[in-house]
Amino acid sequence: MDALTLIKSRHSTRKFLQKPVEKEKLDLVIEAGRFAPSGGNNQTTHFIVIQDKVVLEELARIAREEFAKMELTPDTYASLATAIKLSKKGNYVFHYNAPVLILTANRIDYGNNMADCSCAVENMMLMANALDLGSCWINQVNWLNRNHVMVAYLKKLGMQEGETVYVSMVLGYPDTEDGLPFRRVVERKGNPVTYVNCRCNFEE
Ligand SMILES: Cc1cc2nc3c(=O)[nH]c(=O)nc-3n(C[C@H](O)[C@H](O)[C@H](O)COP(=O)(O)O)c2cc1C
Repeated sequence: MDALTLIKSRHSTRKFLQKPVEKEKLDLVIEAGRFAPSGGNNQTTHFIVIQDKVVLEELARIAREEFAKMELTPDTYASLATAIKLSKKGNYVFHYNAPVLILTANRIDYGNNMADCSCAVENMMLMANALDLGSCWINQVNWLNRNHVMVAYLKKLGMQEGETVYVSMVLGYPDTEDGLPFRRVVERKGNPVTYVNCRCNFEE
């Protein structure tokens, strides 16, 4: 697949087979993330790769219990509101029971922390598509990155002092009819482009 087709055909996968991702494929995905650009070439993105079912269930439980304690207000961001509502009902699994959850953490005191993690995750999602794997960006862990229960557990998993999780993603084989990720190219309605190719926008 050429680069633009790979980019345009990447879509979020939210239904996964209970099939582990081979180590060779997982290593390639992580390598793609580690080779992302970083501000000032800092290379401080920390990849925490979780495949252990017990740990995945524990993370889902913590998130569910902590979201369930939150109150909804009219200003609550829509996706967070959904997480809170479903958690209060007791049936919320933020990682879609994917076989792999990758957390990207970075230094709290580093200005490009979120940007660097985002570059790494996009690289990994594209690599996943190249390998016929499904992936999806996951925001729920960073929504809880000041929650002491979640933070304590993330530290047990290897998050360092002075780090916070900024972006996460899930990875695995898509549960689709043909076993492949959904790849239809969906035309853009937004994301406008302004080409500046004359002096007409400048004042004389
Ligand atoms: C910043 C950001 C946050 C997102 N958070 C979540 C999330 O928490 N859970 C989820 O299922 N998808 C999440 N997504 C995926 C988007 O919903 C998805 O990329 C978008 O709807 C476009 O669909 P596509 O990825 O299939 O092209 C997020 C994407 C981005 C870029």
